[in-house]
Amino acid sequence: MAILKILTYPEKSLLQPSVKVDGITDEIKKLVEDMGETMFEAPGVGLAAPQVGVNKRIIVYDSNAANPEDDGSSKDFTALINPEIIHSSGSIVSDQEACLSVVDYSADVNRYETVVVKALDIGGKALEFEAHGILAVIMQHEIDHLDGILFIDRISLLKRSIYKKKVAKLMKAQ
Ligand code: NI
Repeated sequence: MAILKILTYPEKSLLQPSVKVDGITDEIKKLVEDMGETMFEAPGVGLAAPQVGVNKRIIVYDSNAANPEDDGSSKDFTALINPEIIHSSGSIVSDQEACLSVVDYSADVNRYETVVVKALDIGGKALEFEAHGILAVIMQHEIDHLDGILFIDRISLLKRSIYKKKVAKLMKAQ
């Protein structure tokens, strides 16, 4: 296993759509293991392949992210291959949503309260499940990454332009 470099906005791989995985090869399995390790090391509750420079439709998330009893010691993660949201309903505001690829920024984002996700597991088995609340937010956030969308694309134009200016300033200073 290896810790991968997490790319940050405005890196190109974060801004373009990813392609479907066609066959879960050993290479894909290794990538998934590395993504899980990288996510916990960061630490974060979810990670999408474009964040490590691979534009393939793969996400991982902390299996205990929605468990209020979780003390953070478990390193169990779930991988979803070619995940898609096939149904969504209700609405919530995510509480200070953040992203490992969007440094030094968080914002409240309007999200669906419930989503139904269809995907393959790492064994290639088809699965379908309903996610609520925090888990639903994670699904929307991570699946957005596969379409080149960041949470800053889902906030007001004004807030987004303030963030973009901040990044431009930081990059100039480097
Ligand atoms: Ni993210």
